[in-house]
Amino acid sequence: MLILGIESSCDETAAALVRSDRTIVAHKLAGQEAAHAPYGGVVPEIAARAHVEMVGPLVEAALAEGGVALRDVDAIAATAGPGLIGGVMVGLVTAKALALASGKPLIAVNHLEGHALSARLTDPDLQFPYLLLLVSGGHCQLLLVAGVGRYRRLATTIDDAAGEAFDKTAKLLGLGFPGGPAVERAAADGDPRAVPLPRPLFGSPEPHFSFAGLKSAVLRARDAGTHRAEDIAASFQQAVIDCLVDRTRVAIRAAALPVSSQDGSITALVVAGGVAANRSVRAALETLAAEHGLRFVAPPLWLCTDNAAMIAWAGAERFAAGLTDPLDVAARPRWPL
Ligand code: KG4
Ligand code: ZN
Repeated sequence: MLILGIESSCDETAAALVRSDRTIVAHKLAGQEAAHAPYGGVVPEIAARAHVEMVGPLVEAALAEGGVALRDVDAIAATAGPGLIGGVMVGLVTAKALALASGKPLIAVNHLEGHALSARLTDPDLQFPYLLLLVSGGHCQLLLVAGVGRYRRLATTIDDAAGEAFDKTAKLLGLGFPGGPAVERAAADGDPRAVPLPRPLFGSPEPHFSFAGLKSAVLRARDAGTHRAEDIAASFQQAVIDCLVDRTRVAIRAAALPVSSQDGSITALVVAGGVAANRSVRAALETLAAEHGLRFVAPPLWLCTDNAAMIAWAGAERFAAGLTDPLDVAARPRWPL
């Protein structure tokens, strides 16, 4: 089976072709960093307009790269939410038009499901159930992934997402946009013990996350004027990592119980989403997994940040499970897994 995937929920327009045997036939992506950089964050209206311009050419380019025509595709998958609604509508309507024109089935993919299943695209040995730490610009969750469409949320953030905290910290420190990679670069030249910063919810028995207090502490450290930006960045990154590890440790204990008698226990810790592209975050989680005798699985860096291959793959998994959607399926700005 060959699936065409389209992603447009934030500031990346992307199209990809993925086979159900895990071959990535083509993947094309157009970022919008330059358009949003002057504003220090993603401007929804600008994002939606850029998706309108880019989605057609990217689908065309993916088909050309794969050496296939629309008639060779078995189904068309697109992100139907959650995300910035203008962008979601552009990608979803494009997929509907292609499905209508080709007579091929449409698959409406939850963007979070795309991230949740992305590790299975590159790791054929990753079996359900597994514990997933999903850390992106919009979400920070711990999920038990028991199967396609079978997710149990163990934890979420009570305020900001981890990626959002990276983005806001980058803005406060004048490191540029997008924030995550900028903070990671600055942190490489800093001392993670230089600035004492809080670890919100550290040690709490529930595995929830909180990053708003950390951001305020970064602001105070900056205004104190006594620290280098690199040291604040390194200390901030270490605080986030300590929280992610501590919260995930609590969830591993909860997840160690069998998901259900038929599913058995988790054997892997998986990380996905844009923040999973951070090398220090990955290294800390890998150590945590090893401590608990779990496999650690992280998609390659390009598959962590938003892309269409993960949407095509989630489409392939849904298609194999017999899940397709009607042409009147809705675009959803909010859509919990
Ligand atoms: O998954 P993603 O591409 O989009 C969403 O679905 O939100 O995640 C984007 C987020 C941004 O907040 C970005 O700053 C963060 O992931 N990010 C990183 C890194 N690369 C991207 N955060 C920390 N370190 C990185 N290297
Ligand atoms: Zn995402």
